[in-house]
This record gives sequence, structure tokens and C-alpha cells, in this order.
Amino acid sequence: MMLEKKKILVAVTGSIAAYKAAYLVRLLVQCGAEVKVMLSPGALQFVTPLTFSTLSKNPVFSDFTENKDSGVWNHHVELALWADLMVVAPASANTLSKMAHGQSDNFLLATYMSARCPVMIAPAMDHDMFMHGGTRDNLRKLRDFGHHILAPGEGELASGLLGQGRMAEPQEIIDAIIAHFHPALPLKGQQVLVTAGPTYEKLDPVRFIGNYSSGKMGLALATALAQKGAHVHLVIGPNHLKIQHPQIEVHAVESANEMLGACLAVFDQCQLTVLSAAVADYRPAQQATEKIKKQGDHLVLELVKNPDIAATLGQRKKKHQKLVGFALETTNEKEHAADKLHRKNLDLIVLNSLRNEGAGFGTETNQISLIWPDNISQDFGLMSKQKVAEIIVDAAIDLLKTS
Ligand SMILES: Cc1cc2nc3c(=O)[nH]c(=O)nc-3n(C[C@H](O)[C@H](O)[C@H](O)COP(=O)(O)O)c2cc1C
Repeated sequence: MMLEKKKILVAVTGSIAAYKAAYLVRLLVQCGAEVKVMLSPGALQFVTPLTFSTLSKNPVFSDFTENKDSGVWNHHVELALWADLMVVAPASANTLSKMAHGQSDNFLLATYMSARCPVMIAPAMDHDMFMHGGTRDNLRKLRDFGHHILAPGEGELASGLLGQGRMAEPQEIIDAIIAHFHPALPLKGQQVLVTAGPTYEKLDPVRFIGNYSSGKMGLALATALAQKGAHVHLVIGPNHLKIQHPQIEVHAVESANEMLGACLAVFDQCQLTVLSAAVADYRPAQQATEKIKKQGDHLVLELVKNPDIAATLGQRKKKHQKLVGFALETTNEKEHAADKLHRKNLDLIVLNSLRNEGAGFGTETNQISLIWPDNISQDFGLMSKQKVAEIIVDAAIDLLKTS
């Protein structure tokens, strides 16, 4: 849990992106953080305190007093000093302006002005509001105050216009928060790609050719990489795994062709790729549109070759990118694995043993050897898939240091 015991104060303001803050709070809680939420008067037009109190498991603050007649008030200074980090997401143009000018006419702003902790700001607004000279000045000022501004993305905006102004995605905000608390993580700020699980190659609407891969090794790898600070793109075939890590972005696929497409969509932005999926070498030449009927005593299926994902990515990779593959061999294991490493332009290959009971598909343990391009290899004993993942990740991090 990357944010265990971290106290994070989330300030939500009046933007249509306020709904995304609910997901941000959920991700923070999943990371182990203790979260308290403040809503500005503007935010209350878009979202309700109940959503945030449920997700954060804490009361939500939106005003100085709970009940005007009771005289009971919320202590903005106490709340400000409680926080290890304050995150304003989404930050409206109005609130940005007030923060930049020391205005304090609501509970959220008074708390902000009392805070001594670092402040992260994720602006969200229409493109022209974002480009306005006033907003630019305000952001410059806030940056000068030492606050960390998470630049909004480009795309379609709630106004219907295209341009910059979309709030950074909750996942990006989480990555920035984790990077803030763990500046020494070796994969901080890096994107990595992991493939996992089996592929299913459709025969007809109800049948497929698949394999026994569970995806457990790939998920263990993705988790170990995320724990080192990486943002992981996990391209995974059909599986029964519970994948909840906030730094793991799941791209669910079925066939080898789909897996290649999902890999190519993110490969160029990834410094490291680990290919642990069990990809079908062949697929049916035809996919019947209707269920294939039972006929005579024999049925002959014609198969055609699938694309080779490892070789495709091996050809495409640039010097700064590292590619790790897996090999599952039953004869002349090391020789065949080393051959695969060279043919596919990999930087490291993990040889999976099927010889030992407890190693391979569906099990909780695995036994591997690592082989590098200069034919140096290292053998390991039977161990948990989690431990195996840590060994592979450490070796991959060493590879990145050499690029
Ligand atoms: C439908 C709708 C969407 C809005 N979206 C945004 C937005 O994305 N960003 C923004 O700065 N203001 C937006 N506004 C305007 C703000 O809600 C308004 O400036 C408000 O006073 C901000 O209050 P606050 O800063 O106290 O939350 C929107 C208003 C409406 C009605």
C-alpha cells in the first residue's frame, strides 16, 4: 500500500469534473491513505457530501458551521495542519484565482491558507478559461508559491469544445501523489507494459481454442513493477483475477490479434515491456458465425499463424526501451530460450520450467532461469510467483540503468 498512513486532504471545487474526484478518493483509499474531503460552495452544485463521506469513510467539510443555530464550527486550521498533502481536484478558475490572491471567503479557501503541507492542484475548465490571461497569471503565481500544478489534458471538454482544460485523470493524480511521497522509487514516473494470461481464439460464437495460463505470474509482475513506482499497462487475456492496484491500468483483450493491438497502442510510451502472456501461435482460419454443428466422426480444423507479438515489439523497440520475454520449453530448454531471445531482439528472457511440480500454469509457485543476450544465465529454485516477479523486476531495472 503505497500511501499507507498518509493523510490527504482533497479539495473539490465547482467544475463538471467534480464527479472524477469521487474516483480519485476511492483510489486514494485503496492505496491505504487516510482521506478527508472539502467541497467548495461551487462543488455542492455538482456532487453531494454523501458520495464523498461514503468513499472516504470520514465526514465531509463544506462550511464553517454545520448547523447555523448550534454554534458548532469546523476547525479549518486543525484540518489544514492534519494534512500531509492537500490536493485541489478539480480546481476551478474561480478557486485558483482566490488561492492566488489570498482570498478566504469560504471554508475550503480558509483551510488552504492555513495549510503548511505541500499543495497539488489539478485545474479543470473550458479551454478559453484555461488560456485566459488571468488564469495563466494565477497559475504562475501558484507555481511560485511552490505548489505542484498537474497540467490539464487535451480533448473534448464538457462545453463541447476541443482543447486543453480536462482535469488530469485520477490515475495520473495518484501517480503524482505516489511519486511525491516516494521520490526514490526506481521506476517513478515511468510507464511499463506487461502482457499476461491466455489468449482465446474463437472457433464459433460459443467455442474457442485457449490455454491453461491463469495470468497470475503477469499480475505478480505488474504488482511488483507498480510497487517500484511504475504506471503499469496490463494487457491481459481472459482471467479470473481480482486486479485492483491503482497504478495498474487494465487493458482486457481476448485474441492474439487484440493483444497485439493493445500493446501497440501503448508500447512507444513504455520504457520497459514484459511479455508473460501465453499467446496462441495459431488461430482458426475461419470463425464460424453460427455454432458448428456436430457432423461425422472427424472434424478437421484449419489454423493460420497469429502475429508474433514479441518479434513485432522487438523490431519496433528503440534503444532506450527494454524488452523482457518468457520461454516455456520442454527440451534443450536453455538453448531454445537463448535462440528465442536473439531471434526476437529481447534484452532478457525468463525460462519457465515445467519439469518441477509446482512450477508453471495456474500454480502459486514458479521456477525460472534468467538468460541475457551474452548467454550468461542464472538459475533459481522453486519460489512464490511474487518472489519470482521481484527477481525479474530487479533484473529489468538493471537493464534500464544500462540504456
Ligand atoms: C455546468 C457548469 C459547469 C462548469 N464547469 C466549470 C469548470 O469546469 N471549471 C471552472 O472553472 N468553472 C466551471 N463552472 C463555473 C463554476 O462552477 C463557477 O465559477 C463557480 O463559482 C465556482 O465556484 P468554486 O470555485 O467556489 O467551486 C461551471 C459552471 C456550470 C454551471
